[in-house]
Amino acid sequence: MSRFLKFTLVAGITISATATAVWPGEYGLGREALPEEIAAWDVKIMPDGRGLPEGSGDVWTGDEVFAEHCAACHGDFAEGIGNWPKLAGGQGTLDHKDPLKTVGSYWPHLSTVWDYVNRSMPFGNAQSLTPDDVYAITAYILYSNNLVDDDFVLSHENFAEFEMPNADGFIVDDRAVTEYAIWHGEPCMENCKDSVEITMRAAVLDVTPDEEGTETEAAAPAEPEPVEAAAVEIAPEPASAPDPELVAAGEKVFRKCKACHQVGEGAKNRVGPQLNDVMGRAAGAVDGFKYSSALEGMAADGLVWDQENLAAFLANPRGFMKETRMAFAGLRSDEDIAAITAYLSTFGE
Ligand code: HEC
Ligand code: HEC
Repeated sequence: MSRFLKFTLVAGITISATATAVWPGEYGLGREALPEEIAAWDVKIMPDGRGLPEGSGDVWTGDEVFAEHCAACHGDFAEGIGNWPKLAGGQGTLDHKDPLKTVGSYWPHLSTVWDYVNRSMPFGNAQSLTPDDVYAITAYILYSNNLVDDDFVLSHENFAEFEMPNADGFIVDDRAVTEYAIWHGEPCMENCKDSVEITMRAAVLDVTPDEEGTETEAAAPAEPEPVEAAAVEIAPEPASAPDPELVAAGEKVFRKCKACHQVGEGAKNRVGPQLNDVMGRAAGAVDGFKYSSALEGMAADGLVWDQENLAAFLANPRGFMKETRMAFAGLRSDEDIAAITAYLSTFGE
């Protein structure tokens, strides 16, 4: 046993002694990495373009390379397939409750795109792309985000000039310098103030917005929606007097909307606009409600809420109006849609 130990020990020393340069540090292990080894490993690209290899690529080549290597997961237009990440879109959503963070809407430095793609994509076959491919793909991702025209060519020469839309959207975390000193001191553990009283409620002080409707059905956990096998034809135009049964059904469906919308006398704008008289109303027409630019855009194109497009919107809000602010998954059954439109048509101005 002891002979064996001694042997391995000696062998170990022999190996490190024959290595070219012994690391001078504390442990006496290994050797210094060679410059070529560091260069092969260090593929980082800095925001100012440092580290970029020479090369270039245009949008059209990028379109082809992207279609071949990336579109299976990220979509032909970088719009993302299923749950694979979206690389385009989301502009103007960063202040939303559910922002869409993409290269175009969120990433502050173009170097991150180049570096990330070069380093780790395509998923499962990382570092298989040439520098020119990566330039072309980066150009194509910018194009998919409407940030460059289709004749754009990206190269190591013009790289650093490109400014990302959200370049100023980040702040340097300087709290260590500016704030930590203020929060010094130990918490009081003895001889502290004898009594702590609540002297005012935030809701009374009016710093907490009160949400009407949340205490009732809207607060209940959403029930899973029944999937209807047989689609029901939607009535072509509202009959002069809507079917009372349908209206009653619609009132129930409206529970799904109540958290955000009000109807009836004194209806106010909440998360969503009040919906009185919505049938036949021009989209985006409620005073004092701040609509998304998506909705405003369609309103400017003349969208009027009628049976048909309201049904399409409610069936799939984001499908009908990409980037609408209405964070609602949609009504899955045509029956529910027919009912809700009948219900809404009973509320006049
Ligand atoms: C097999 C599916 C797949 C393929 C093919 C693929 N990716 Fe990805 N991609 C992913 C996944 C998964 C992630 C998220 C990885 C993570 O978060 O760790 C991702 C993330 C990304 C991101 C970062 C997105 C973000 O906002 O965080 C970029 C940029 C990207 N991919 C570009 C590409 C490019 C360019 C190609 C083609 C050269 C490509 N991908 C091919 C699956 C894929
Ligand atoms: C989570 C909140 C939320 C829910 C739930 C919701 N909405 Fe909305 N709704 C909104 C917001 C926000 C808007 C404004 C959309 C925009 O500006 O893009 C909107 C817009 C609308 C509009 C367009 C109004 C106009 O003035 O142009 C209609 C119609 C509408 N919603 C109907 C419904 C109906 C019917 C339901 C229930 C089946 C529903 N919504 C559920 C938040 C919601």
